[in-house]
Amino acid sequence: MFPVLVMTSHVTMKILSECESGLCPKLFRKLLLFSGNDYMGLSSHPTVAEAATKVAQDYGMGTRGSALICGYTTYHRLLESCLAESKNKEDCLLCPTGFSANMAFMTVVGYVGSLSAVNETDCQDGVAIFSDALNHASIIDGIWLAERQGCVQVFIYRHCDMFHLNGLLLNCMMKKKVVVTDSLFSMDGDLAPMVQLSKLRKKHGFLLVVDDAHGTLVYGKNGGGVPEEFGCANDVDICIGTLSKAVGCHGGFIACSKRWKQLIQSRGRAFIFSTSTPVPIIAAAHAAVTVAKKETWRRKAIWNQVQEFRTLTGIPITSHIISLIVGSEEQALKASRVKQAHAEMWLSYNSNQAPHLTYAGYGSLLVQHTPKMILGNSPLHYPNA
Ligand SMILES: Cc1ncc(COP(=O)(O)O)c(C=O)c1O
Repeated sequence: MFPVLVMTSHVTMKILSECESGLCPKLFRKLLLFSGNDYMGLSSHPTVAEAATKVAQDYGMGTRGSALICGYTTYHRLLESCLAESKNKEDCLLCPTGFSANMAFMTVVGYVGSLSAVNETDCQDGVAIFSDALNHASIIDGIWLAERQGCVQVFIYRHCDMFHLNGLLLNCMMKKKVVVTDSLFSMDGDLAPMVQLSKLRKKHGFLLVVDDAHGTLVYGKNGGGVPEEFGCANDVDICIGTLSKAVGCHGGFIACSKRWKQLIQSRGRAFIFSTSTPVPIIAAAHAAVTVAKKETWRRKAIWNQVQEFRTLTGIPITSHIISLIVGSEEQALKASRVKQAHAEMWLSYNSNQAPHLTYAGYGSLLVQHTPKMILGNSPLHYPNA
């Protein structure tokens, strides 16, 4: 059962039990949010709100259609240019969500595979996709779709295991190879080995696709994300991202070459057949990216939070995503209930959502959290990290 939550500020929520929903607002309880993705506090930045308001007043909300029909405006174009520059790519394509960006891109890989194969029974000329075992659900689902198109072979390498990946690449006779990985793993909070991936790319000549959903704006000197942080931006061929996390808005994007963009525009079904993101949201996202560029203190503040969390709790987290192995599914649920009872909103994963994590509590650090908030007052504070 989902808790019914009502936003009370950018860092707090109120909780409603099932019978209370909408009926007896007096029973609301305030919770401190440790499960959100608005890492840099941009969703409530006045410049962002102003940009959305102005555009909503001037042009209304909906884009009235998909980008290829009538849902593409100068605001969309402006944001694409801004993201392409930030990701050091020739161009960028906005998609309705980050999920659909991955789906659209992987479908196109499937299409390329079916094009390049001489015939459907001999797929030596198709495409081999190598995917990290812990990649996001949208990559996994996208790969399923790619596989359905025929001449795609999928190899899952052990999480961040470059020795395993190298072995699989060496043994694969297919010429066209694609390696796809999250940059910062959304459930475990660890980073992909970007430098080793770059080295393997030089050795094997594959197309490197990185989903930088959780790294965009947060990592890199200029907020270009995890590849920028490790000096590998030029080795990433395709950088996929979302506008729903540090950007604080909604939507997805694929930063890539002009050629790839054209291919996705003509074959990426999740892009083609879905209404584009509303203009006020795009204007807000553009404002958020611009603010993040100027207000560099926000990026630094996240890293101070990570450091502070380590010092205060003794838990050696490596990013703003906190993954705590609690023990069992029941214990994880209990931990999140105890947190709620002490006015904190944390998540617990069950075996369907994160089978490998048997069973974790999950949280994330936001710029707005203070040391007092981090220390909290729950007796089951940071269980068995
Ligand atoms: C790694 C990763 N990729 C893609 C997505 C999907 O992004 P969106 O929420 O914009 O659909 C998420 C969101 O949870 C994510 O964590």
